Amino acid sequence: MKLFLDTANVEEIRTAASWGILDGVTTNPSLVAKESRSFEEILREVCEIVDGPVSAEVVSQEAAAMVAEGERLSKVHPNIYVKIPMTVEGLKATRQLRTKGIRVNMTLVFSPLQALLCAKVGANFVSPFIGRLDDHAETGMDLIEEIVTIYRNYQYKTEVLVASVRHPIHVKEAALLGADIVTMPFSVFEKMPRHPLTDLGLERFLKDWQKVPKA
Ligand code: G3P
Repeated sequence: MKLFLDTANVEEIRTAASWGILDGVTTNPSLVAKESRSFEEILREVCEIVDGPVSAEVVSQEAAAMVAEGERLSKVHPNIYVKIPMTVEGLKATRQLRTKGIRVNMTLVFSPLQALLCAKVGANFVSPFIGRLDDHAETGMDLIEEIVTIYRNYQYKTEVLVASVRHPIHVKEAALLGADIVTMPFSVFEKMPRHPLTDLGLERFLKDWQKVPKA
């Protein structure tokens, strides 16, 4: 399973990349707005740090404008995946961008049928938002299970990118369901390597080692 960071913060990306387990990055307009830097400047820097897909979202809403914006973003770096919202205009734009060989991540997906349509227009990634479904008392992870089943039934090549992740348990559940990618905030990423028993065990080993006679 590939692990992506869901952030536009270059320092967080640098830190996660230094651990050797970062496969890609997703951004969205809200995350970019937190950084007070130009989008293109952020994208260039991120693409220099991460050797993997970097998602950059369009803000246009009409297909032709989305395609033009997507083409512009895709020229920033070969690793850019254009993020297109799951609307009818977004489906049209995705089909056109894919025909041009530009890679697409379809976002704001909240239902299995939306995901089916994303696969049919050839999106490379589909991004179901599980945390936001949980916020509405729906079980976000059920959506992942359904999408994975549908894609397997028809051997669609679109990869399931689990987004709007809030806890490490979401990452574990997504892995058990066979999702292809999970994108998460740095706050979740940094919790994954930790376990209090690892810390306690290490502390005990180091303490005991002091009792070993030195040659
Ligand atoms: O990048 C899209 C998604 O991961 C947003 O998550 O926490 O704003 O629902 P959140």
